[in-house]
Amino acid sequence: MISKETIEQVLMRNDIETLIGSYVSLKRAGSNLKGLCPFHSEKTPSFTVYPADNSFYCFGCGAGGDAITFIRKRENLDYPDAVEFLAQRAGITIVRDERDQLARAPKFDRARMFKMNVDAAKYFNRCLFSDNPDAKAALSYFIEKRGLSVATIKHFGLGFAPNSFDSFSKYMLSKGYSFEELEAGFLCGKSDKGRYYDAFRNRIMFPIIDVSGNVIAFGGRVMDDSKPKYKNSSDTPVFKKSRNLFALNFARHHCSESIILCEGYMDVIALHSAGFENAVATLGTAITSEQARIMSRYTKKVIICYDSDEAGQKAAMRAVKMLTDVGLDVTILKVPGAKDPDEYIKANGADKFRHLLTQSKSRFEYNLENILSKYDINISQDKIKALHESEKLISETYSSAERDIYIQTISKLFAINAGSIKSDVDRLISRASYAKRKEESNKIKQDAVGYSDKVNPDFIKAPAVAKNEENLLGLLLLYPEHRKRVFDEGLVSADDFFTDLNRRIFEYLKNAYFNEGDSHYDVDECFSPDERGRMSRMKLSRMELSENGDAVLRDSIEKLKKSVSKKNNEKNNSIENLSKLIEQKRKS
Ligand code: UTP
Ligand code: MN
Repeated sequence: MISKETIEQVLMRNDIETLIGSYVSLKRAGSNLKGLCPFHSEKTPSFTVYPADNSFYCFGCGAGGDAITFIRKRENLDYPDAVEFLAQRAGITIVRDERDQLARAPKFDRARMFKMNVDAAKYFNRCLFSDNPDAKAALSYFIEKRGLSVATIKHFGLGFAPNSFDSFSKYMLSKGYSFEELEAGFLCGKSDKGRYYDAFRNRIMFPIIDVSGNVIAFGGRVMDDSKPKYKNSSDTPVFKKSRNLFALNFARHHCSESIILCEGYMDVIALHSAGFENAVATLGTAITSEQARIMSRYTKKVIICYDSDEAGQKAAMRAVKMLTDVGLDVTILKVPGAKDPDEYIKANGADKFRHLLTQSKSRFEYNLENILSKYDINISQDKIKALHESEKLISETYSSAERDIYIQTISKLFAINAGSIKSDVDRLISRASYAKRKEESNKIKQDAVGYSDKVNPDFIKAPAVAKNEENLLGLLLLYPEHRKRVFDEGLVSADDFFTDLNRRIFEYLKNAYFNEGDSHYDVDECFSPDERGRMSRMKLSRMELSENGDAVLRDSIEKLKKSVSKKNNEKNNSIENLSKLIEQKRKS
């Protein structure tokens, strides 16, 4: 858990007006601010920021909550990451231990895990240089087959895990680590019968090192064609795949100009040893927005150099989007005549690769080249197809200045008037935005009538009952004096609620009231951003009403009790019916 003090500090130091203002352009409207919602597309602003209680709500799509909710949704982060994001923004340091506990492994000490990983890495590295014939084969795989020098092997701390179920763990136990620790660090597995075994066997080992120089995980590759090719550490208390990049510990000192993003560990190692020390790779998964953001902290430009097969190129297109979204300059480099940058460098040398780097393409150039390679624009049918695909490509470009440049390019290339291309592109853009708006408004409409209430799926089963629950919760969320009455006098219990979400909100409020001095600092931890939005709506719909006093509260509680007794009656009835039925059966 992140402490209450930290959350309060994080919320206090991140003024919501400034925070949201850095994403959305806001205009003052009375004591509040309004702008176009960043969570759905709209033309008239229904997104409102309430500085008075540091919250926001969108009347169009129902998004709402506090600064943490906003960042969770906007940056696509989970709760602890959103808190960390905001803490960083406000210059607050979150104590590392606190983060550990967030990873739900309070038993394991971070420093000890790092030490354990270093000891493991040293062990694997020693094994690689041992006299054992298996180890000799591994070393020769690196040197002869993959062309690495001993210096490179040492630089990256590469190693070899022997072909044994217990050599490694025996050694680690002798160093004082327990099986539980080894298992938590993904270095040992545990069989169904409860026996521990070494997780990495007969594999060459790649230690994964974070930017502070800690060994946080391992990747292990087979030396033949057997499967799986790589075995990687799963997330551990000190390791999250989605938040780290292979070799960033080295690359961060060489990336003021650019980072080269590859797919494979071997690509990165080959690039570094050829002098391109700004290469990094993801850790066996597609690039995440967190990794994109991390790169944006170190550099301005990323050159994507993925495998040249179709899968690699598809992945590259996804990476472009991720990286562009965080404001990075992105180009794509496809190595010609080789399956990946490793193979290319081995075949052509570093100078050729350096030259290739200068020819990396923007997303537009890259796709345009693909289009042109598919069609012969001297044939008019082909030319039309190529033109349409190019126009579509341009319509997907966000900046209108950039679009203008591309329109000029296409106009020259196809010898077609720029004006007609522009009107085609504009039509495509408005068509796409109409389709998107339509889809969103349909969703909102359906939500409103309760057809597909994803946030509170029970709503549709009993809309009137659920609506009343929301009324009551709105009163409780809004007024401390109502909370005091309801909870002190025990006027309502969680069992009175029909819908699951509303029951959870009630339980949460009650719990907060009795345990936390009635402050709601961990609300973002307990509810999803969408659920937070729903809670905001409950509050706001009450705020719009003039009558929120005791009478309204009593009325709402009465309705709630009635619906419960009705439900219970129904249940009793059905039990009665059932027993009657059984009796009849028995008689007949
Ligand atoms: P590649 O198959 O391209 O591997 O996968 P590579 O590292 O370039 O290895 P070589 O050149 O064939 O020796 C790219 C990356 O995808 C992940 C690894 O991170 C690898 O570096 N991967 C691949 C896995 O995690 N598991 C697998 O089974 C395969
Ligand atoms: Mn590869």
